[in-house]
Amino acid sequence: MKKYDVFNAEIISTRMAAGGVCDMSVLAPFAARLAKPGQFAQLFVPGKTLRRPVSFCGIDAAGGTLRFVFQVRGEGTGRLADMKKGDTLNMLAPLGNGFEPCGARGGALFVGGGIGVPPLLEASKRFGSGAVLAAGFKDKKSIILKEDFEKNGCKVLVATDDGSYGHHGLVTDMIEGLRFGAVYACGPLPMLKAVSRIAENKNVLCYVSMEERMACGIGACLGCAVKLRGENGAVHYGHVCRDGPVFDSREVVWPDP
Ligand SMILES: Cc1cc2nc3c(=O)[nH]c(=O)nc-3n(C[C@H](O)[C@H](O)[C@H](O)COP(=O)(O)OP(=O)(O)OC[C@H]3O[C@@H](n4cnc5c(N)ncnc54)[C@H](O)[C@@H]3O)c2cc1C
Ligand code: FES
Repeated sequence: MKKYDVFNAEIISTRMAAGGVCDMSVLAPFAARLAKPGQFAQLFVPGKTLRRPVSFCGIDAAGGTLRFVFQVRGEGTGRLADMKKGDTLNMLAPLGNGFEPCGARGGALFVGGGIGVPPLLEASKRFGSGAVLAAGFKDKKSIILKEDFEKNGCKVLVATDDGSYGHHGLVTDMIEGLRFGAVYACGPLPMLKAVSRIAENKNVLCYVSMEERMACGIGACLGCAVKLRGENGAVHYGHVCRDGPVFDSREVVWPDP
């Protein structure tokens, strides 16, 4: 059976949320059946050669739908956000490895920075009230998906850069004192590096979802290389699209600031 495919999906809802974030759901029964939390799709952008990678924010296998929540960054995401209900969205999916469902005795901590929060929503569902989300945003207006996490039973802690909501400061300030059995993180590289150091100090597993510029999305163009360390300590290059986007943080060779 094919692990991924190229197919047309119908957009069943799309709306702009705060901070230039588009919340879009599509009818895609093939991919919704196979998709795992943390995986992504390469979305075709009308008029562009390269597809744009966007993670699954929601997966409804029974209903055959997928949800994407993405920020308008440039032309590609801008054109995707301009698409309307009933339009056809071509995609290559599901891609990548996704979050491993590890036991996480002691609770699962999800750490998201800004637009790194959406890929964590589906993964947090399986932990119900055993999950805590620590999420960092620029300001109160940029907060996304808080109610969606809470609806699943997840406790949500928010930090904002300007102190307009929740903790005034970095998301990592809030997690130093928490107890948890495993960490799942997605966001900017410095945040991922800091989270993985905290997890390492507490001796708990930490999975990080990495982002790189992508072209093919299937390991063929070598465009999304990332430096990894093998079990024997030797450094090699892996690919975010094929070997990731989720990595055990102990594998990642973090770039110097
Ligand atoms: C596996 C994966 C999953 C992703 N999931 C999401 C998601 O769920 N929601 C979401 O909002 N975004 C997600 N992204 C980022 C998204 O793919 C980019 O923002 C998008 O490709 C930008 O395309 P553009 O044409 O709009 O912007 P461009 O004109 O190509 O670039 C505009 C700006 O965005 C930056 N950018 C472009 N590509 C990336 C990238 N891959 N990572 C980080 N910054 C980038 C550029 O450096 C530039 O500053 C994901 C990226 C990857 C690799
Ligand atoms: S995007 Fe081509 S190898 Fe990853």
